Amino acid sequence: MCGIIGYTGQRPAGPILIEGLRRLEYRGYDSAGIALFDDRDGLFVQRAAGKVDQLVSRLEGTLPPASAGIGHTRWATHGGATDANAHPHLDPSGRVAVVHNGIIENFESLQRPYRQRGIRFMSETDTEVLAYLVADELARGLDLAEAVRAVIGMSEGAYSLVVITKDEPGRIVAARVGNAGGIVLGHNEDEKFIASDLAALLPHTRNVTFLEPGEVADITAEAVRYTDLEGMPLMKAIEVQSYDPVAAVKGRFKHFMLKEIHEQPVGTLDMIRGRYRLDPPSVDLDDMPFSAEQVRAFTRVVLIGMGTSMHSAMVGRHYIERFARIPAEVDNAAEFTYRRPVLDEHTLVISVSQSGETVDLLAAMEEARAAGCPQLTVCNVPGAQTTRVADATIYMRMGPEIAVASTKTMMASIIAIHAVALWLGRMRGTLDSSLEREQVEAAQHLPAAIGEALLLEPQIAQVARKYAQAEHFLFLGRGWAYPIAMEGALKLKEVSYIHAEGYPAGEMKHGPIALIDEHMPTVALALRDELHDKMRSNIEQLKARRGPVVAVVSQGDETLNGVADDVIELPEIEAALSPLVALVVMQLLAYYIALERGADIDQPRNLAKTVTVE
Ligand code: AGP
Repeated sequence: MCGIIGYTGQRPAGPILIEGLRRLEYRGYDSAGIALFDDRDGLFVQRAAGKVDQLVSRLEGTLPPASAGIGHTRWATHGGATDANAHPHLDPSGRVAVVHNGIIENFESLQRPYRQRGIRFMSETDTEVLAYLVADELARGLDLAEAVRAVIGMSEGAYSLVVITKDEPGRIVAARVGNAGGIVLGHNEDEKFIASDLAALLPHTRNVTFLEPGEVADITAEAVRYTDLEGMPLMKAIEVQSYDPVAAVKGRFKHFMLKEIHEQPVGTLDMIRGRYRLDPPSVDLDDMPFSAEQVRAFTRVVLIGMGTSMHSAMVGRHYIERFARIPAEVDNAAEFTYRRPVLDEHTLVISVSQSGETVDLLAAMEEARAAGCPQLTVCNVPGAQTTRVADATIYMRMGPEIAVASTKTMMASIIAIHAVALWLGRMRGTLDSSLEREQVEAAQHLPAAIGEALLLEPQIAQVARKYAQAEHFLFLGRGWAYPIAMEGALKLKEVSYIHAEGYPAGEMKHGPIALIDEHMPTVALALRDELHDKMRSNIEQLKARRGPVVAVVSQGDETLNGVADDVIELPEIEAALSPLVALVVMQLLAYYIALERGADIDQPRNLAKTVTVE
């Protein structure tokens, strides 16, 4: 949520900030703004409700030739998407400008003394008061970094914050408090960058430093000084990143979502390369820091995530139970944290997150850490906070995912858990060698099968046209196809704004079937596995109530021809991996329905790519 950008150096800062905002826009796009050091007026500030384009048109021809400044793209928490609520926020004298990501929980009590003195706030945000407070601390004689630390001491919540003052052109102070929203710094010899995530920095530098919670960076073009929140100096190393910024352009595709769907065959290949070995068939996760003794002592696996990542965890649960024979459960991370889960050092916690920044997940991981659980995380963004909390990380190797709706990273995270399940099974001696061989060989076929699933695109686009005007959709699946049905519904909701429900097919008769009539289509995942016959019966029940059915079936399955209204036949793949191939159909269906409806596919309303508030 919210993207923060900053630059101090020798080049014109304005275009660098605008380009950075465009790269961060997927984090939030309710409004955008910049503040630049301006020789004439001290600080030049421009803000606009709406996307970065709105800001750019408002800036037309007015950018001062400043060589330092800060910017922000907002996902609204306090106050609507208006010009007044857009960041940066200033103190009443215009001396201090602040951008912020996260929530200041006690902002009302911080505002009270000002209100009592008759001072008005120009916005409804929890941020503005921070600028007032920093200005007051500067007036008391503190320097900028000291003032920021003092204000952090008064503020409650988890957030990141970047502050400038017109008194010190070129100096920027950035701080990270708690787990909401990362801050990464980029270093070139005579220029420094600040951003909420790597994607905005990589066109400029690969030399980066991540701020940890409780750290403050005092930044000029030449140097960065780090302290903790008490002002004690810290030493931090520069890391060299190999993330590919070129992947963050749309290329020949109309939308990032479609591009990212199409990246799945290659991405899948990258996921399995070096991890799945054919001779002898095995999964190689030797860099796992858990000893054989520790792995054998695991009594339970808890998988956690939010949204799409939770759906990956739900598929993964099947793999853990089937291949490693360890009791496994899945939890929505936000629920997990607050129900005081029973955990111990024999519970392996597997967290899944594309961004590695989701605040609900980080809170859950802290809960698990406090209970002494070994933790493994699956993440796409190098160096993200989840990778710092967990004992071990499996990277998704998918490159930047820009579309707000996750696609390729769900694919990668399911493969990651498949690999973990096989590895656990081998380590614990619970995995039959023929099953291991079958799964490892099947994984080798996965990239090609996903490529073949993409060839279904014209058929799926046609089905999408047929049902694009429906106002409600039902998605059904059983077993490992149930989370894929959930994901089909989520994807459709996100990008087309159609109301959609994902249900385990067995549950249908317990309520949802009341919704079925000729206007409510169902997408039924009837994959070839031990539950196929039951799924077929469910489809018959839908047809008996005149519900249109799109059946997604395995290759060569003709049993639903003439029963379902539309049949989409998947390429051949081993049953346990069939959910991955079916996932491609769910993604394309959502995409093409949204396209038919003219929706804003890459940046759907109300959403943000990275959710850093609870
Ligand atoms: C996916 O399409 C959604 N944008 C959302 O559900 C997402 O999966 C969720 O917010 C979790 O994000 P994460 O994977 O970055 O933790």
